[in-house]
Amino acid sequence: MTGQSDSKKYHIITFGCQMNERDSETLAGYLEERGYTPVDTHEAADLVLINTCSVRDNADKRFFGTLGQIKKHKEKDPDFIIGVCGCMMQQQYIVDAIKEKYPWVDMVFGTHNIHVFPELLEDVLHEQSHSTHINVWEGGGEVVEGMPYRRLYDYKAFVNIMYGCNNFCTYCIVPYTRGRERSRDAKNVLEEVKHLAAGGVKEVTLLGQNVNSYKGGDVDFTDLLYMLSEVDGLERIRFMTSHPKDIPDKLINAFGDLDKLCKFIHLPVQSGSDEVIRRMNRHYTRDDYLRIIDKLRTAAPDICISTDIIVGFPGETESQFADTLDLVDKVGYDSAFTFLYSIRPGTPAAKYPDQIPEEVKHERFDRLVEMVNRHSLERNQAYLGRTVEIMAEGESKRDEDRQAGRTDGFKLVNFDGDEQIRPGEFCKVEITEAKTFSLVGKLVK
Ligand code: 5AD
Ligand code: SF4
Repeated sequence: MTGQSDSKKYHIITFGCQMNERDSETLAGYLEERGYTPVDTHEAADLVLINTCSVRDNADKRFFGTLGQIKKHKEKDPDFIIGVCGCMMQQQYIVDAIKEKYPWVDMVFGTHNIHVFPELLEDVLHEQSHSTHINVWEGGGEVVEGMPYRRLYDYKAFVNIMYGCNNFCTYCIVPYTRGRERSRDAKNVLEEVKHLAAGGVKEVTLLGQNVNSYKGGDVDFTDLLYMLSEVDGLERIRFMTSHPKDIPDKLINAFGDLDKLCKFIHLPVQSGSDEVIRRMNRHYTRDDYLRIIDKLRTAAPDICISTDIIVGFPGETESQFADTLDLVDKVGYDSAFTFLYSIRPGTPAAKYPDQIPEEVKHERFDRLVEMVNRHSLERNQAYLGRTVEIMAEGESKRDEDRQAGRTDGFKLVNFDGDEQIRPGEFCKVEITEAKTFSLVGKLVK
């Protein structure tokens, strides 16, 4: 039998969102079925996969930069295998650039067909002379069930419930790289969550570009939440991401109704100006958005709210930007991801003539971040002196003398305490310090 140390090694580099993280878990699952074991660097690996993202700024530069570094390793060891996958591969100009400038890449596949990875790998392992094996599907009309995966944590897990997006926000590349919306069958999701819970998972995060449009037969997203909250052993249910255009009252009421549904929502607003929201093709108004926030806070007064905001969308005027600042001030987010608008080739907004100069974008961005951070700190300060329940997540990443965990509202809490709390266990912590991005506290006996 081959010992652990003799086995082939793999390393996966993942860019982007949690959907990509989850896809990487599947790729890791395939590799481990094939006898590979994980290592932390590409230098120590026999095979490296780069799972790419098209959404983040400078995605092309970062990807090709990473490929450049890996090239040196390939030159030293021709048997070293390189695969590239993820959202960028769904863009033809990227695949063309790989063929032309990076012909030493062994495998290219897309977001719709990660299940062909094992076949591609076999082809590469058995070929006599090098060629780039390219298999990218367009559209992606199907949901593939039963792929293996290697989970990163044993107490929490990500579960895809739907794939793709039909919204075509004018700045966004996702509808082109992840294809049309399709949902998994509710019974498959339920089986997966039951299986996870039986294995000790306490928290699941349901994933989809737009989870509210989940439709598994006649089960809608809220129905699914009710079904999953019945699963024994499961303590917390989270989800992301939601679109403000479809948050029905039924879902809002679920926050008041379901103990296991975490009191947290990530609800990207993108802009506080009706005109910008319209030009982004988002289909709501700022009033609609503010009404949803009110209703959520009525249903669950402690709910924590986060958002995504884009600064400097083409044509954004100073007064439209001021509307965004005003909305941020009114909502008082617990946290917000702020983005400088940047062109994604192939999207409608890329061709808008009224692009905003970089310095204007940066100046607005700084004002926005200042406002966002002020609210985050204020909202965290409201926790001072309170005792909160958290799910422990092990050693703090920032401070190795402390342990870390998250509240139901997704607040990160670093805490002191003599007792070591196992990841996945719940405990009570008294909050002693509030920072902008985290809370500090001490374990309550
Ligand atoms: N420019 C800046 N930010 C973008 N996002 C998506 N596309 C762009 C773009 N072209 C942001 C949105 C989205 C988040 C995941 O990324 O705010 O919600
Ligand atoms: Fe992109 Fe809009 Fe779809 Fe979100 S809802 S993935 S921003 S197109």
